[in-house]
Amino acid sequence: MDRTTPNDTPEPIERSLDPENWDELRVLGHRVLDDMIDYLQTIRDRPVWQPLPESAKRLFSLPLPVGGSGASEVYDRIRDDILPYPTGNIHPRFWSWVGGTGTPTQLIADMVISTMNATGLGFDEVASTHVELQLLNWLKEMLGYPAEASGLLLSGGSMANLVGLAVARNRMAGFDIRQQGISAGGEPRMIFYASSETHSSVRKAIELLGLGNESLRTVPVLDDFTIDATALREAIKSDRQHGFRPACIIANIGTVNTGAIDPLPLLADIASAERLWLHADAAFGAFARLSPQSAALVDGLERADSLAFDLHKWLYVQYDCGCVLVKDSKAHRNTFSVLPSYIRSLDRGVASGPLNFSEYGVQLSRSFKALRAWMGLKSEGVQRYAEQIEQNIRQAQYLDQLVMQHPELELLAPTALNIVNFRYVAKGLDTQALDELNAEILMTLQERGIAAPSSTVLNGKFSLRVAICNHRSRREDFDILVENVVAIARELTGKVASR
Ligand SMILES: Cc1ncc(COP(=O)(O)O)c(C=O)c1O
Repeated sequence: MDRTTPNDTPEPIERSLDPENWDELRVLGHRVLDDMIDYLQTIRDRPVWQPLPESAKRLFSLPLPVGGSGASEVYDRIRDDILPYPTGNIHPRFWSWVGGTGTPTQLIADMVISTMNATGLGFDEVASTHVELQLLNWLKEMLGYPAEASGLLLSGGSMANLVGLAVARNRMAGFDIRQQGISAGGEPRMIFYASSETHSSVRKAIELLGLGNESLRTVPVLDDFTIDATALREAIKSDRQHGFRPACIIANIGTVNTGAIDPLPLLADIASAERLWLHADAAFGAFARLSPQSAALVDGLERADSLAFDLHKWLYVQYDCGCVLVKDSKAHRNTFSVLPSYIRSLDRGVASGPLNFSEYGVQLSRSFKALRAWMGLKSEGVQRYAEQIEQNIRQAQYLDQLVMQHPELELLAPTALNIVNFRYVAKGLDTQALDELNAEILMTLQERGIAAPSSTVLNGKFSLRVAICNHRSRREDFDILVENVVAIARELTGKVASR
């Protein structure tokens, strides 16, 4: 067989994806940074939301580019056809779902994150590992959670609930669930208790953990949308009598619909008396802890065995960033640890980092998302965050009062924290007509780019739902909201202003 010697082969052309002209990239980079800062600085002047025009949508039906058109040309498309159509959560009058705003400072962190392109393994002895560990320690300190707890940054509250509940499941099973699987013969069904106001991610987690929905006992709520602790106690008793294995209580520290906070000290007492795991979904409510006036509302948070919360909601961190903390770090690690030879740490060199984050969650490689929050906290200081959170709580109370004082508006839930639920009421309309009217009001508000609350249904009534995790909102924004809700409603009902 003929073999060509290295000397006979022509020198291969080897390329990289680095730019051929770094100066061109530098010019583009400076231009983009200027554009982004201008964009954020003038965000208030733009509509909260606007639909994508057909001209922009055409971009998304173009075929796979075989040859590239260059970064500068592509950026022009982004600037004209993508940037003008955000969700809106960077705007001062966006209050949908539990959308966080992010901060301009973190834009700088994003450039560093992208440049370093860290792998987030933890067992790599690199600065990103230490940034994340320090951030986790700061978070525990901010929330008053035990310092010895283990923690992990992940994509958001949904993943944090999944990880926390996985630890609960494995710890409470009473047998080796990792080895035998959930269907080990003859074991009683584990039961997890949560109020009917619990976020859907908890149900998803229960399903994904192989427990099945029959393992999720939905407990009714009281008039203020907090869990009915008496019903909870009865359910646990009844389940024991029926041969089930009560395993975990899931507390809501801020329900998604109304921001209701379950009675944590009471739930912690029940969990301890019944020897159950206490998991808290504190997706946004956790940071009420920072507000001197509202911290007491979340007393007992530190008693949860596992705590799920988001930094991208009420810590104003850019998406995505959630966190799970687990008091029993051994149980946490025992749930996820798999250490094949190719990811074992060594005594020295790159792989000599302090821990392997993959032993605490599902992911192996992770982005360096910790840097955004770390930079935000270091730049502003935690005191500024506390003030912003306090401001949002006061704004919710202000809106609550605006609604209460207006004869054509009706509050649909107590304002427990930073979420206000209300609707427009017109005499002579039945529930269905009022639901349709309020849905129309909401869509019109959004289509006109005025404001973006979201919606939910409370006690069978369609509600305009205003969740305030927005550091850009001002009182005047809530005046604008109320004025426009009423004006649009009158327009829709053909009613002439009578006041
Ligand atoms: C109470 C609660 N739990 C969990 C989640 C899910 O969080 P994420 O969207 O970050 O996955 C949310 C989101 O709004 C929430 O409000």
